[in-house]
Order: sequence, then structure tokens, then C-alpha cells
Amino acid sequence: MSEHYYANKPTAAHQRQVVRLDINDVHLVLVTDTGVFSRRGVDAGTRLLLESVPAPAEGVMLDMGCGYGPIGLYFAAVCPYCQVHMSDINERAVELSRENAVRNGLRNVTVFCGEAFAPLQKQKYHLIVTNPPIRAGKQCLLQMFSAAHRHLLPGGRFAFVARTQQGAKTLAKAVEQIFGNITDLARGGGYRVYMAYKDADATVALD
Ligand SMILES: C[S@@+](CC[C@H](N)C(=O)[O-])C[C@H]1O[C@@H](n2cnc3c(N)ncnc32)[C@H](O)[C@@H]1O
Repeated sequence: MSEHYYANKPTAAHQRQVVRLDINDVHLVLVTDTGVFSRRGVDAGTRLLLESVPAPAEGVMLDMGCGYGPIGLYFAAVCPYCQVHMSDINERAVELSRENAVRNGLRNVTVFCGEAFAPLQKQKYHLIVTNPPIRAGKQCLLQMFSAAHRHLLPGGRFAFVARTQQGAKTLAKAVEQIFGNITDLARGGGYRVYMAYKDADATVALD
């Protein structure tokens, strides 16, 4: 049976390959491997997310469930004054993200390994972005989204993408309950991108 892409320690024989991410003025070359999500090319949902979430000018942001790094590394490139944290439970994905940061000359990146927010301790963020691990189950996702709310600064933003057929609208309702607001940022190709603000009335000067 094939291994889940969110196994902690994938054991599949390595099959490294290079994929490209070209969005706006950002051009990244990313190494992928077996045992990580969407290894044959950047996921269409991830692309829609990157095309639709406004990048901050500065601040600290997090890519939760970074895989081999397309989200966090895109923001690190487009937003050189940001500190970008990336985290994943999958050790192979974490190693690839670290390698891909170096390959693309991105120094404003720190990659963590562990379960959800555990490795990030009490760090707070201006922006948290995720293409979440739908297969981990709704309960796990709701815990992750609640933790995202706790890890945001006042006025900070949380953005996620999900397939319409995998319950994107239901997840958006859950996020709306946690945050008290939700914005439908983009839809296309069977995906939806949503964004919510922590304390929507609070002002944050950084985006
Ligand atoms: C849908 S993939 C997205 C990967 C990458 N961000 C992308 O867009 O290609 C979700 C990622 O979440 C990771 N993941 C699954 N469960 C996790 C957990 N409990 N804590 C942290 N990461 C997790 C998986 O290993 C996987 O890399």
C-alpha cells in the first residue's frame, strides 16, 4: 500500500526530481521526492492560494504543513523583509524544504519539524497560511485552525485552501466560528481559498 504523504518518517525508496514554481515574478526550482505531497508538480490548490493571498510587506509568517516548501518559499521570495517559518510532521518534507531554501538562496526561512504547532512554542504570527492535511481528518484540522487563531497577533491573517469536494465550505464555516469572520478569496479548478482575520477590528500595520 502506498504511504501517506504525512507519514513522520517516509520509508519509500528515494526518487528525487525537480519541479518549478513560476508565479508573478517568483521563479523557484524545488526538489521533491517520494513520500511527500504533490511530488510531481506544485499542487493546483497551492498555486491558487499563492495567486490570491496578498503578501505582507514585512512581519513573521508561518507555512503550516510546508511539504517540500512551495508556500513558505514563495512568500520568502516575494517578501524578503518577512521572517518565514515553515513546519511539517514529515521529516523528509522538512529536509527538502531546508534544501530548497538553500537552493533558491532564501535566507529568511526557518524550517521546523513536528506535530502541528508543537515545535513553534509560543511564537505569534502576522500571517499563517496552509494547504492543510485534509486526510488527517476534520477533528485534527479543527484543532490546527484553533491553534492558528491562538498563534496569530491581533489583526493577523489566516488563509487556507481546500478542494470544494473535500469539504472546503464546511471548513470555512468552522474557521468563521473560530475567527468570527471569513472572506472568500478565490475559487477555481475545484478549489477554494479563504482568509480570516484575528480580531477583525484590530489594526496591523504590516500588510
Ligand atoms: C496538503 S499537504 C501541503 C504541502 C505543501 N504545503 C504544499 O502546498 O505542497 C499537507 C502537509 O501537512 C503535513 N502534515 C500532516 N499532518 C500534519 C501535522 N499533524 N502537523 C504538521 N504537518 C502535518 C503533511 O506532511 C503535508 O506535507
